[in-house]
Amino acid sequence: MALTRPLDVIIVGAGFGGLTAAIECKLRGMNVTLVETYPTSLNYGDIIDFFPNGGRIIENWENGQVGRDLMKICINQGDQFQYFKADGTKIYTEDWILEPHHYWKQYAGHRGQMHKVVLDYAEKVGVNMQFGHRVTQYHDGDKPSVTTAEGKVFAGDVVVAADGPRSIARQQVLGLPDTKVNSGYAIFRAYFTLTEEHAKHPLLKEFCDQTVDKTLLWTTKDLHMIIYTWNKGKDLGWVLTHKDTEDIGESWSFPGRKQDVLDCLAQGKFEKRLVEVVNATPEKNIVDYKLVWRDPLETWLSPSAHTVLIGDAAHCHLPTSAQGGSQAMEDGVALAVALDRSQGDVALGLRVFERIRFNRSHVTHMASIAVRDGYHNVDWDGDFIRENPHILALPRPEWVIEYDIEKESEKYFERLAADVRNGRKGTIQELALPAGGDYEPKTLKRKGPRSKF
Ligand SMILES: Cc1cc2nc3c(=O)[nH]c(=O)nc-3n(C[C@H](O)[C@H](O)[C@H](O)COP(=O)(O)OP(=O)(O)OC[C@H]3O[C@@H](n4cnc5c(N)ncnc54)[C@H](O)[C@@H]3O)c2cc1C
Ligand SMILES: *[C@@H]1O[C@H](CO)[C@@H](O)[C@H](O)[C@H]1NC(C)=O
Ligand SMILES: *[C@@H]1O[C@H](CO)[C@@H](O)[C@H](O)[C@H]1NC(C)=O
Repeated sequence: MALTRPLDVIIVGAGFGGLTAAIECKLRGMNVTLVETYPTSLNYGDIIDFFPNGGRIIENWENGQVGRDLMKICINQGDQFQYFKADGTKIYTEDWILEPHHYWKQYAGHRGQMHKVVLDYAEKVGVNMQFGHRVTQYHDGDKPSVTTAEGKVFAGDVVVAADGPRSIARQQVLGLPDTKVNSGYAIFRAYFTLTEEHAKHPLLKEFCDQTVDKTLLWTTKDLHMIIYTWNKGKDLGWVLTHKDTEDIGESWSFPGRKQDVLDCLAQGKFEKRLVEVVNATPEKNIVDYKLVWRDPLETWLSPSAHTVLIGDAAHCHLPTSAQGGSQAMEDGVALAVALDRSQGDVALGLRVFERIRFNRSHVTHMASIAVRDGYHNVDWDGDFIRENPHILALPRPEWVIEYDIEKESEKYFERLAADVRNGRKGTIQELALPAGGDYEPKTLKRKGPRSKF
């Protein structure tokens, strides 16, 4: 029984997951309302990466125009990703862009600025934006709805909770206890503008290079730091991941203290360049960002299968996966395809969506831990790292980054829908599409901690 009117889609949360779902549903003719707590475009965050599996989604929008706008503010003259020991010894380099056809599919830049470009596009295609409204209650059922703090109600045919790592939908929709736990690590992160003064500083001038954008990573026991520069030597972002076992209460992003960062650098015996970068950072720009870990869920669907969790709400990736943003965007596309193809049968659409996305996002989600542990537990004295420095490389396996979520969703929709209709038995692990690969470094024998997955 096909709907004769557009499907009413209510999405909570305008992060990259919610925005992508909104755009993709709207492009397929649905009536989309996006409810977001923040009043305006989010000028928050520092640097975020989208690798080709996420970037290809952007590249599809408006004949590539959104990607062109985005690239102006992103790393657009990236050369190599360089890996160092804490003391500055270079261990490994790889190309920033692995294949020429990745150029318009790989975006990294300031999260707030990038968010604005995507948000503008969502507005342009006609997504109904309801900003400045915090959802406090989800109501499941055949006509699901949400209520905001001011008592406003948004009802639709389907509710999509794209409300991020602190998702209240996990408790209200899935009935789970609030299990957010500290992953054992936090990130000091900052973003600032480089000046002519910096360009004269002997240890900082390399970051002001107008002709190459830098991506550099240093690693040592329990610590790693990444520096990015872009915008013709004007913008610099850095993140320093460190151990932190403090209890995560309601708030998990705090102002960072410069002295604490410097203490971490001293503890890891990091080279002077990094100390100078931190010294040059305005203290007010430093954030101490606790990394929340949440175990993978068994389902992302409400009992009626009319409400669904997507993005970090469903699978809270750690930054070391380098896939949090891209996986959230893949969710948005798969969801839109499945809702479109199910022609008004929302429960069918959401069940297929979950089977398309479950295994793949699970594997990248879990990889974030293995990758981080790999960075932090390098045995610099053994032969292994000397012979296999590429285990430090960013996790970009082909099966992850060459994936075309739209194509795969279209390809498998009918088969998975038939499974749902026929009541095929099994756990979600058995019913979901296989991810297509793992993070096992293929050319290596099982040795280092990276081979855990
Ligand atoms: C402010 C901010 C800064 C970030 N900075 C970085 C960064 O610098 N680097 C990086 O790699 N990743 C960053 N991230 C995380 C990254 O964007 C996500 O991991 C990834 O893009 C997945 O996105 P998501 O849409 O699933 O969730 P999120 O990006 O977390 O988006 C969730 C959205 O839901 C909204 N929301 C939550 N609860 C409610 C509610 N009850 N009612 C209405 N709206 C609600 C939030 O305000 C937010 O906009 C940041 C996230 C946020 C929210
Ligand atoms: C779109 O959805 C909104 C919010 O649910 C609703 O108020 C509006 O009537 C819908 N518009 C159409 C054209 O269906
Ligand atoms: C994902 O699929 C692979 C291959 O089918 C399987 O080995 C693995 O257990 C699955 N993982 C989950 C979490 O479903």
